[in-house]
Amino acid sequence: MIDLRSDTLTRPTAAMRAALAAAEVGDDVYGEDPTVAALEEHVAGLFGHEAALFTPTGSMANVLAVRAVVEPGEEVLCEASAHIARAELGAHGAVSGLTMRTWISPRGQVDLAAVRSLHAPDMGSFFVRTAAVSVENTHNFAGGAVLPLADLQALRAWADGAGVRVHLDGARIWNAHVATGTPLSEYGAVADVLAVCLSKGLGAPVGSLLVGSADVVATARVRRKRLGGGMRQVGLLAAAGRHALDHHVERLADDHAHARLLAEACGVDPAGVDTNIVVVERTDASEFVSRAAEEGVRAATVGPTTVRLVTHLDVSTADAERAAAVLARLTAG
Ligand SMILES: Cc1ncc(COP(=O)(O)O)c(C=O)c1O
Repeated sequence: MIDLRSDTLTRPTAAMRAALAAAEVGDDVYGEDPTVAALEEHVAGLFGHEAALFTPTGSMANVLAVRAVVEPGEEVLCEASAHIARAELGAHGAVSGLTMRTWISPRGQVDLAAVRSLHAPDMGSFFVRTAAVSVENTHNFAGGAVLPLADLQALRAWADGAGVRVHLDGARIWNAHVATGTPLSEYGAVADVLAVCLSKGLGAPVGSLLVGSADVVATARVRRKRLGGGMRQVGLLAAAGRHALDHHVERLADDHAHARLLAEACGVDPAGVDTNIVVVERTDASEFVSRAAEEGVRAATVGPTTVRLVTHLDVSTADAERAAAVLARLTAG
């Protein structure tokens, strides 16, 4: 079975398991796990920020990161299909007591005109204040679309003038980095706080990080514990994450090439596939997915007429070619 449902499905490689087994560990709640501390320092440095915090999931990193820039009763603006709005089960409202308003962009892009018109400055006791804007790069439900650096920089410049903070959901920022050659530090510079994942295309079994200032991270460390996210000898998982960063970033280019191959097979313009996610619109989405599964290719439906194919570490070039042959046959009908 070639599993294209998500890039979270990867299994740790033998080398990653060896790195995990060899990890030096301690109790991270006591601040005594050297492997976690080294990973946090390394990732903070990659993005040009002061500090980072290891979390079990991208969702927890996002909850803590958005909360770092939005107080209860304030709002965050984001694109309507952002992961924080659609797929975190209302955590930002339920856990953090903040509200959201959204703009719509079919490719999940920054729409600065929309942001400006949604922006609500502090009006005392009359209206909810916009505390932050959140952007997602790459954008999952927009088919792994990259947000151009220039748009992010324009948002940053506007936000600085307006007294608004910027959160970047960088679950797949590595894909954006590899697809465009943009240094991670440039992405770091446009955001006050980031959430980045090691458990998507990078292939670690678990692990994400919040990245920001030393103060933000110190407060987030307390809140993480409050949420039940204080982990003990978690250097095992940090070692897997560090291995992923050291060995699995540049190879994301292969996933992107595989995704373009699958797009072509499904009649989707490969020029519109920026990274490792292909979105196929079909009125018979469920049937298409069932028929592909019968032929050894698993895909996901992410809407009544939307099929999603995601390439990753466990899909070789031979797998991608075989999947493309199956999907092309089904597409031809
Ligand atoms: C863009 C984006 N942000 C955050 C997350 C949350 O990550 P996790 O599944 O580790 O909670 C995901 C998961 O797919 C995602 O795609």
